[in-house]
Amino acid sequence: MTLTPEAETVLKARYLRENETPDDMFWRVANHVASAETSYGHDAVSAAREYYEIMSGMIFLPNSPTLINAGKLKAQLAACFVLPVEDSLAGIFETLKHTALIHQSGGGTGFSFSRLRPQGDKVGITGGVSSGPLSFMHIYDMATQVVKQGAARRGANMAVLRVDHPDIVSFITAKQRPDVLNNFNLSVGISDVFMEAVKNQGDFDLINPRNGKTSKTMPAKEIFDLLVKMAWENGEPGLFFLDTVNKANPTPGLGVFESPNPCSEQPLLPYESCVLGSINLTKMVTGNGRDRRLDRGKLARVVRTAVRFLDNVIDVNCYPLPEVAAATRLTRKIGLGIMGLAELFILLDMPYASQQAVDLTADIMKLVTAEARAVSAELGCQRGNFPAFTDSIYAQQGYSHMRNATVTTIAPTGTISMIANCSSGIEPLFGLAMTRRVLDGRLITSINQVAVDYLKNQGLLNQEIYDQVAASGSVANMALPDKVKKVLATAHEIEPAWHVAHLAAAQKYTDNGVSKTVNLPKDAVPQDVADVFWSAYSKGCKGVTVYRDTSRDQQVLTHGISS
Ligand code: CDP
Repeated sequence: MTLTPEAETVLKARYLRENETPDDMFWRVANHVASAETSYGHDAVSAAREYYEIMSGMIFLPNSPTLINAGKLKAQLAACFVLPVEDSLAGIFETLKHTALIHQSGGGTGFSFSRLRPQGDKVGITGGVSSGPLSFMHIYDMATQVVKQGAARRGANMAVLRVDHPDIVSFITAKQRPDVLNNFNLSVGISDVFMEAVKNQGDFDLINPRNGKTSKTMPAKEIFDLLVKMAWENGEPGLFFLDTVNKANPTPGLGVFESPNPCSEQPLLPYESCVLGSINLTKMVTGNGRDRRLDRGKLARVVRTAVRFLDNVIDVNCYPLPEVAAATRLTRKIGLGIMGLAELFILLDMPYASQQAVDLTADIMKLVTAEARAVSAELGCQRGNFPAFTDSIYAQQGYSHMRNATVTTIAPTGTISMIANCSSGIEPLFGLAMTRRVLDGRLITSINQVAVDYLKNQGLLNQEIYDQVAASGSVANMALPDKVKKVLATAHEIEPAWHVAHLAAAQKYTDNGVSKTVNLPKDAVPQDVADVFWSAYSKGCKGVTVYRDTSRDQQVLTHGISS
């Protein structure tokens, strides 16, 4: 197994135990997860070997909490949680306690604050007034900040507020002040009614969740324009399309989706958790030169192993709360996804910004979801369906078996893609050379090897070109053939419409959500953001986040190599 220096640094910092090698880590994870097989009369040893092979070969990696915690006593293995926030002081602080426990275990939490009465509303017991959702979000943020010192990793939160909540304007503008809510991503919960009102330039009612009464009426467009302006200024809030998400709810009888997890790819019911895992597509290529193609057979085989792996995690996982254990076991949701897509396109000599590439994105997720469902159906037959199956859409659609209420999710793969040395999720390359700010502010630099090999195979690589790529992270301004520039185009050089096209293509064949940032160049105007929002909504995306280059003071990613 060869690891890049970046991967070694990341693993040593948080993932490896004392005296543990990366190889030991993969065996630790493989053995723990495979131990579930014995309760179904299967051989855990051969399963462990299979799991070890796909992980150590960087073909598949589970989400970070599984890598960090597997094998420990009371090991918590899932990355994503959603908790309810009730409109009572006891409820708010009970959920805060639960949040701290989840963060301590390496999980991230999403919440909807929409049920809380607005600021200034009356509070029954004291006769006083409520301080509103924003004030409680600040308390959650502070608690996250404190807990993160001792936790497996930095805690992350998602806050959703419905667009019809009376405090929506303060929510949308909350991050205008620097240095607040740093441990939160914010998304506005958008309804179809709202989008319709924006389109018709109509008025929109803001409703007090305590009594269902209209507390204020505003032009819908005013809210939308403010949202666009804030997202243009600093990338937040994102949008979470509530009606689209709930149309895809596999168990509507169990409740409605109010919020996704922190990076917004995983809508969950209150108290559900989900374990994610991602297949590295750069390892799914067969043939040489012009004959290179996606190895569909291998991809399908890896999906089979990965689904069993993730389903086993649900059995061996030690849940941080009884409510989470119960809700998770009722639906047994898993989220298998992909990473390395951008590099797969380069290996196949295909520009990210092309219809051919968009079709391939859809095709890959169609295959992954179809194969994952087939395995889940087999597991349902052998091991039992998820307990809520009879009330699920699968039973209504005539399926007899399904082990998992959802099978696919596309995660950001922020850390695991670094470990596997591939591009993250379905994102285009951010830069051909890049500097990453990791763990507590240190800088790590690298030049993309797939891009270097591409230039070499095209007979275009020399020292001068190499140095230019390293310095600028891009080939856009270099004297190279057009096709080469297109294949090696980076995130900000790709038109936003292509970003949305890949997001929508992946979403069409993904059970849960898709993590994707629509990158915009720094000279983009607010109307560009509005166009992205509209097109993501009309193409059936579950959510969307934009990011305009250089719009935040301290970016996680920057171009080129800084000295
Ligand atoms: O690559 P890795 O498995 O570490 O994580 P990811 O794919 O970047 O993020 C997957 C999910 O992990 C996020 O959506 C969050 O729910 C959670 N997460 C977290 O809780 N804290 C972080 N610092 C990063 C991610």
